[in-house]
Amino acid sequence: MLIKKYIPNSIKLLLLGMSTKINLLLLSFFSLSRFSSSLYYCFFSQQFSREHQSVLKARITYLKHQGGGDNSSVLLRRNIHRIEKGLIMQPQKPIFALNYIDETINEYVKSCENTEHDKEELLWAKEVLSLYFISIDKCLLPQKIKTIFEKSIETKPENNIFNNVPYAFADKIKSDVSFEQFSALCHQRRSVRWFQPKQVSRELLEKAINISSTAPSACNRQPFMFNIIDQQPLLSTLASLPIGTTGFAHNIQCLIVVTGNLSYYPTERDRHLIYIDSSLASMQFMLALETLGLSSCALNWPDIERLEVKISQLLSLPDTVRPTMLIAVGYAQTQGKIPYSHKKTSQQLINYINHENCNSSK
Ligand SMILES: Cc1cc2nc3c(=O)[nH]c(=O)nc-3n(C[C@H](O)[C@H](O)[C@H](O)COP(=O)(O)O)c2cc1C
Repeated sequence: MLIKKYIPNSIKLLLLGMSTKINLLLLSFFSLSRFSSSLYYCFFSQQFSREHQSVLKARITYLKHQGGGDNSSVLLRRNIHRIEKGLIMQPQKPIFALNYIDETINEYVKSCENTEHDKEELLWAKEVLSLYFISIDKCLLPQKIKTIFEKSIETKPENNIFNNVPYAFADKIKSDVSFEQFSALCHQRRSVRWFQPKQVSRELLEKAINISSTAPSACNRQPFMFNIIDQQPLLSTLASLPIGTTGFAHNIQCLIVVTGNLSYYPTERDRHLIYIDSSLASMQFMLALETLGLSSCALNWPDIERLEVKISQLLSLPDTVRPTMLIAVGYAQTQGKIPYSHKKTSQQLINYINHENCNSSK
């Protein structure tokens, strides 16, 4: 601070320029190979070290079949989804899922023993497993699996009606929302930072979260949670944590900390899915809020060690759970201003890849 105060501006600019040049040189050198990049992140920057540890811990949790919490099973959700995909194949194979069917049935049986487990998830699993058993060529199923199957799953649901299994496209719910109506809703949603001093209705939040749950997610695992903070003093503490709330943190009436659980995945290759899945769900959440008279502003949650430790302590988050974004929610002040925020056009966003400009043609 002292140096900053007494050094003339011209020298400050010179030093800044020099430090940028040195930084560029260092980064260019270390980015020459993957090995040197790893050296850089081993000795010069610890920015990824917490993520490394979280991913490893998450893999352990997954392998111990402990992911998903008390009322849901990640393994069951993933495998039932895979079986549903097998059931919709054209043409359907006489046998499939052999390498994970026993694991799935065991997980189903274990989940049924847990009184806390979500009954609807279990019903879905049961019906899909029953249909699988009816649809495959049982002669091709090893005897061991057949026995576990017959012992643990009734082959047909009550009244012989399947409600939670694949169905024809023609039977799906058809909305009468026009392009114009959807476009109007999307244009209506803007990031709002100035809210009325009014408690946000939890009932409306729950309605919007039910809509966010319809968003696509990898293998239908839904690895996210919406942590709602609408009570003081926690609200003020949390609202001032992300750097991007400077100047309007005091005005936030309700804060959602969207978290993603890395323990939903057994491998590193899927470590980004918590961000993708929670963002897709958050977008639907924010649009749903608009239809309920509420406004929102997505807030960046930066990967800064000090802030991560603080939020994990405040919300008692395990090492495998990370905030993916924060969302401020409230009733907008009608005279509060919102930035114009120019949007790119489709011409700027589209890149048509054809044979001429694609690498495979070279
Ligand atoms: C991932 C993400 C992080 C954001 N972080 C902040 C933030 O920290 N502070 C803020 O005031 N706005 C934040 N925003 C809101 C953006 O500034 C805003 O979406 C953008 O300027 C476009 O404006 P619009 O949402 O009104 O269309 C964020 C938005 C997203 C999607």
